[in-house]
Amino acid sequence: MTDFNHKSVLLFESVDLLNVFSSGVYVDGTAGGGGHSREILKRLDKNGKLVCFDKDPDAIDHINNLFKNIDNINIIKSDFRYISSELDNININKIDGVLLDLGVSSYQIDKPERGFCYNQDAVLDMRMSKTGLSAYDIINSYDIKDLSKIFFEYGEEKFSWQIAKNIEIARNKKIIKTTGELCDIIKSSIPASVRRKGGNPCKRTFQAIRIAVNDELGSLSECIDSTFKKLRIGGRFCIITFHSLEDRVVKQKFTSLSQGCICPPDFPICVCNNKPKARLVNKKPILPSEYEINSNSRSKSAKLRVIEKILE
Ligand SMILES: C[S@@+](CC[C@H](N)C(=O)[O-])C[C@H]1O[C@@H](n2cnc3c(N)ncnc32)[C@H](O)[C@@H]1O
Repeated sequence: MTDFNHKSVLLFESVDLLNVFSSGVYVDGTAGGGGHSREILKRLDKNGKLVCFDKDPDAIDHINNLFKNIDNINIIKSDFRYISSELDNININKIDGVLLDLGVSSYQIDKPERGFCYNQDAVLDMRMSKTGLSAYDIINSYDIKDLSKIFFEYGEEKFSWQIAKNIEIARNKKIIKTTGELCDIIKSSIPASVRRKGGNPCKRTFQAIRIAVNDELGSLSECIDSTFKKLRIGGRFCIITFHSLEDRVVKQKFTSLSQGCICPPDFPICVCNNKPKARLVNKKPILPSEYEINSNSRSKSAKLRVIEKILE
């Protein structure tokens, strides 16, 4: 069995807001260590159902093992952008709630060979699905402009151009193979006075590469659009984010779904006839308590947003 170590973030807050009723059908789009799934399962009876998704084969092995004695569960290895079509494949037409707990699990970060971590030297990888384009491919083949754009847009890194330029210089001499080699290049691209302030100078660039490798924002955006259509009226969509870029996507999508008229403000009467399809369950995001932050530092940046479907 995979040794899967992950402390679930905003566990009760998110599952409480999912409004689980015992015979409902629920989706955990990011099953990971199974903490949120387990809490949902506790609230279901034999007529209820949980469908678990994860694109990481290690997480799926773990979930299969963890829930091997449970009948009312389906476990699917897939990107959550395909939840809607995967549900069609198993003849589930409508669902009562869906939860996404975004990002990487502690298991993925703590396994150096997955290449997510800038504190340990390992092969450049960062693929959640363990397939397709890897960090190695991006770092060794993207041109300097694309690298810089990724670091700036997904990492909000001020020294994006300098880092991209130094990557190009380094890889012209020798292929960049490891996280350690990349960290050395990043550190040498950031002035010492800036490096001394704040946390690890590699954090922003690693976040940016991870987002690009896994097309995290694209998946999230597609998932919200298509999975919302699968919700029954009264069904809820709960999303936990960990950085401002993914939170912005969730906030914009949820706000747009819960918006009524979208006519320009100077129109005397409404011509769009747009009706809100959802209501915001919490106007402001729910944040972890001080107790949770103290007992799990990874929860520090978490934000939970929830909507409820009110119209097809
Ligand atoms: C923070 S962990 C989830 C932890 C889980 N909620 C728990 O309580 O143990 C995020 C998980 O989502 C998975 N994941 C991230 N993006 C995904 C995507 N686009 N499609 C499917 N799984 C994804 C990751 O592989 C990881 O296992």
